[in-house]
Amino acid sequence: MLPKFSGRAFLAPMAGVSDPALRLQCKKMGAGLVVTEFTNIHSIIAKESQLKERMKTIQEFIEYSDEERPLSIQLFGSDLTALEKAAKIVEPYFDIIDYNMGCPAPHITQQMAGGALLQEVNLTQQIFSTLVNAVKKPITLKIRSGVTDTNKFLFREIAEIAEDEGIEMITLHPRTVSQGYSGTSDWDMIKELKEISSVPIVGNGDITTPEDAKNMIDNTNCDYVMIGRGAMGNPFLFEQINDYLKSNSYKEYTFKDRLDSFFDYLHLTDQYKIKFTNIKGQAMRFTKGMKGGSKLRSKITLSKNIKDLEKIMNDAYVSS
Ligand SMILES: Cc1cc2nc3c(=O)[nH]c(=O)nc-3n(C[C@H](O)[C@H](O)[C@H](O)COP(=O)(O)O)c2cc1C
Repeated sequence: MLPKFSGRAFLAPMAGVSDPALRLQCKKMGAGLVVTEFTNIHSIIAKESQLKERMKTIQEFIEYSDEERPLSIQLFGSDLTALEKAAKIVEPYFDIIDYNMGCPAPHITQQMAGGALLQEVNLTQQIFSTLVNAVKKPITLKIRSGVTDTNKFLFREIAEIAEDEGIEMITLHPRTVSQGYSGTSDWDMIKELKEISSVPIVGNGDITTPEDAKNMIDNTNCDYVMIGRGAMGNPFLFEQINDYLKSNSYKEYTFKDRLDSFFDYLHLTDQYKIKFTNIKGQAMRFTKGMKGGSKLRSKITLSKNIKDLEKIMNDAYVSS
């Protein structure tokens, strides 16, 4: 059974972005669910055996805190034996296991994973059944609408199979794999999925404001919304969406608030082994849209360590 979610807006899984510090920050700002970056099932198995030798658990590899709960881990990879093993390894630590069938990156689709699976109906059915039978925790699914424009409605069949096999919630990002991030997401597909499904549907794609979130809910009747790029460097969005859905108004935040919020993020990173390049990436995102932001980002790019970065961001804060 799915856990209870405290809000209708979820933070999307984003490789290199939705690290445990950003997830916690978004959770504190009202995200109803946060999801880890996608994780390779083979890496989970290999890491677990290395960690076991050192009497450590998989938490050393996939870092998180209990404050993020309910917490979903996203897996990718289609080898059924490995999938079963990886799901069993992570089950004790996470509240939901999400399966990735949307990633368009060629290095993922070429290994028959991510979005490429949408056209592999038999394998997909086996994947769902393997996951659902391997663990007791709820299994959810994240998909794109199809692979190319000619089969852009593959989601209909996949969703039906998913429900039959016991998948408990489906997130749809209604773009095809070959579309990447171009064009706009087709929210009518989310509406259609909601109409044909009996499990909760999470609508995803192009939400950057509280108004967008409300529009998606009103126009598609989806149960939840998921936000990726709009939440990058902008954890305030979750509070704003929750307020807007409740009372039609929300607090505006300034760029100074966003810089402040970057320092909160930085503080949270202390507890985790997040790569400095990823932290730098977050700094760039927290300054997006700021006056003088592009100059500031050139300086951020050149920073060599946390101390450098802190000074650059501090100077920007003082002069903003
Ligand atoms: C940098 C980046 C990394 C992403 N990584 C993942 C991932 O690990 N797993 C996944 O299912 N989707 C991933 N996505 C897709 C997002 O979860 C989301 O479906 C997509 O960005 C559309 O939502 P948005 O318009 O709100 O950004 C990623 C997107 C971006 C921009």
